[in-house]
Amino acid sequence: MDIDTRNDGQAMNDGQAMQELMRSAAEEATRAPSVLNTQPWRWDVGEDELDLHADRTRQLHAIDPAGRLLVLSCGAALHHARVALAAAGFSPSVRRHPDAGDPDLLARVRIGEVRAVRAEDTAVADAMRRRRTDRRPFQASGPATGDTLAALHRAAAAEDTTLHRIDGDQIAYLRAAEHGAQIIEAKDERRREELREWTEHTAARGEGVPPETVTGPVPRPVPLRDFGLGDQATLTPGTGDDRSAEYLLLATNTDDPAAWLRAGEAVSAVWLTAISRGLAVSPMSDAIEVPGARALLRSLLPGGGNPQLVLRVGTDPGSPPPASPRRPIGDVIGDGSEP
Ligand SMILES: Cc1cc2nc3c(=O)[nH]c(=O)nc-3n(C[C@H](O)[C@H](O)[C@H](O)COP(=O)(O)O)c2cc1C
Repeated sequence: MDIDTRNDGQAMNDGQAMQELMRSAAEEATRAPSVLNTQPWRWDVGEDELDLHADRTRQLHAIDPAGRLLVLSCGAALHHARVALAAAGFSPSVRRHPDAGDPDLLARVRIGEVRAVRAEDTAVADAMRRRRTDRRPFQASGPATGDTLAALHRAAAAEDTTLHRIDGDQIAYLRAAEHGAQIIEAKDERRREELREWTEHTAARGEGVPPETVTGPVPRPVPLRDFGLGDQATLTPGTGDDRSAEYLLLATNTDDPAAWLRAGEAVSAVWLTAISRGLAVSPMSDAIEVPGARALLRSLLPGGGNPQLVLRVGTDPGSPPPASPRRPIGDVIGDGSEP
């Protein structure tokens, strides 16, 4: 799926070459993380533009009734496409929500100017190609060093999103929010059914969360989502205990699809920055899904704001966890002729 890195302006005068480049960027974007690996996006590749649509048929109506996590996931894919184009030597331009009459057309990407590829563009693209959700407890300390933390803050800020480090006494509130969310979700049959639907026998369809990417319950200061897999969750937890993990809360000023899209771009930007600095990440959205738990997270934000996702970050344990599947490319990338 690597992009052809020719960036001589001449070759790009050729419309077909340009379209191929756009298609490669869309293919790279299918690597993006998404809630329960629903991959709720569709890309239309034109000659000089790439349209990103939300695919509402993949919305989790019980877990994500507003579609917030769906749009966040699409935002992560949008950022991945931008990363791919930057690493190929372009400075893409993006119009978000370009058609007021079609709210599910989330973004229109144009290839933009040719420009020199910087070392950081390549590093972030490499991180994109090896990124995986790592649910194992982390062993050594996270990104507490000032320099890395500052880079993660900058990555979020560049996407109009704030990053708040939850630490000290606030960890107890995060634990309470997660715990509370899990109790509420466990009692909700519709949510449980949706979890089952996206975790059982889904790999053959190229979607969902494979049980081998989930650890069984392990003692940790803040519990992760219980996927309800019981003994089927077979990822070996290793020797970490999460006591040095960092919890980064991403938040936006407003709470609407435009903000969710930007927050999703920030999720990708922060995550890829973390990976390129030798860290590992897993997102936590259950406390975002349950209104009471989300209110508790909101109370942790010193300047106010709307919580969008928590990222748990720690030192990369080395060997990567198993990869999650992806949908067939033909199901997610078209040329705009499909209805
Ligand atoms: C918006 C969003 C919410 C997510 N929520 C959770 C979560 O609560 N718990 C979790 O373990 N993973 C969560 N994930 C990670 C996805 O499950 C993961 O990206 C997906 O299964 C694909 O796996 P991969 O990231 O390894 O490619 C979330 C990802 C996104 C983008």
